[in-house]
Amino acid sequence: MQNLFSTYKIKNLELKNRVVMPPMCQYSVEKKDGIANDWHYLHYVSRAVGGTGFIIVEMTDVEPDGRITDYDLGLWSDEQIPALAKIVEAVHSHGAKIGIQIAHAGRKAEDAAEPVAPSAIPFDENSKTPRALTTEEVKGMVEKFRLAVRRAVQAGFDAIEIHGAHGYLIHQFHSPLTNKRDDEYGQDLTKFGREVIEAAKAEMPADMPLIMRISAREYVEGGYGIEESIEFSKAYKEAGADVFDISSGGEGKIAAWGRPGTHAAYQVPLARQIKEALQVPVMAVGRLDDPILANAVIGNEEADLVQVGRGMLRNPYWTLEAAKKLRKENIVPKQYEAGF
Ligand SMILES: Cc1cc2nc3c(=O)[nH]c(=O)nc-3n(C[C@H](O)[C@H](O)[C@H](O)COP(=O)(O)O)c2cc1C
Repeated sequence: MQNLFSTYKIKNLELKNRVVMPPMCQYSVEKKDGIANDWHYLHYVSRAVGGTGFIIVEMTDVEPDGRITDYDLGLWSDEQIPALAKIVEAVHSHGAKIGIQIAHAGRKAEDAAEPVAPSAIPFDENSKTPRALTTEEVKGMVEKFRLAVRRAVQAGFDAIEIHGAHGYLIHQFHSPLTNKRDDEYGQDLTKFGREVIEAAKAEMPADMPLIMRISAREYVEGGYGIEESIEFSKAYKEAGADVFDISSGGEGKIAAWGRPGTHAAYQVPLARQIKEALQVPVMAVGRLDDPILANAVIGNEEADLVQVGRGMLRNPYWTLEAAKKLRKENIVPKQYEAGF
């Protein structure tokens, strides 16, 4: 019987447990150069010391204007590789595996003078109206994703996550509400996302998994639902996505139409539906910070991996405490045994 502390293997990614730290922007690059600093090092390495099986580095952008803010991480330059490589090495030395989320904020790039998007539709009345990318620029954007993934592989990451959720650029392309293009990238809403996945896979070793994060449903009026996300996820699976990371929303204002309360496990039903429909491994996320609940999601085979975001912001040792609570084998580092 599998549980939160069972090992997991997908391709060459071997995890000691099923606990994942999801990507969480730190907005902490004070120099605005996209380069990880001491904060990022301590933030990620402390969660590795805390027993987390798999860590996903926050949204890391493929060009300067692809950042939500100028304080975000980037991988548009080789100069950004060494600081990430240092984090990867330290995380490995504490027995965890580490991936990175590669992204572009599109129309949600708040600090960009002129954000870009599939179509010139602003996020809300307080946002800048983005400029619609030309067809050539969309193809160029695929190449920017490719180069960022190449650099992530050079930095030594164990997996790549592509950010196709939360209303950022890839989500903007596959949502009919934000993609009103009449070229090939509008006639086929998943073309951009598929090309990004294919470009990423071409840069990754064959045995390295690619994780696709999606918003499995939108919460704005007229937005897509689970049936549509099952369909576009099939296209992404076909393009090479090995694992799906199931989130939701982000395309419009919070508390907009149809949004359920963010109660415990609120996105697990979506993860389970994608898993069942596509027969793919999935990662669940969203208010899963009660260890008994997280363990049940794995035990009931609703998801293959469980992510704990805000719970790990509160407590880097979330995994160690969960092991204690669930009476699993002692995974506490010997230096900390007296505390447990
Ligand atoms: C501070 C913060 C930053 C976040 N940044 C990202 C991000 O970079 N990429 C992403 O896909 N989701 C991001 N998220 C969403 C989390 O990955 C996660 O899906 C969400 O917090 C729900 O999980 P939780 O209830 O365990 O916190 C962020 C969440 C928080 C709280």
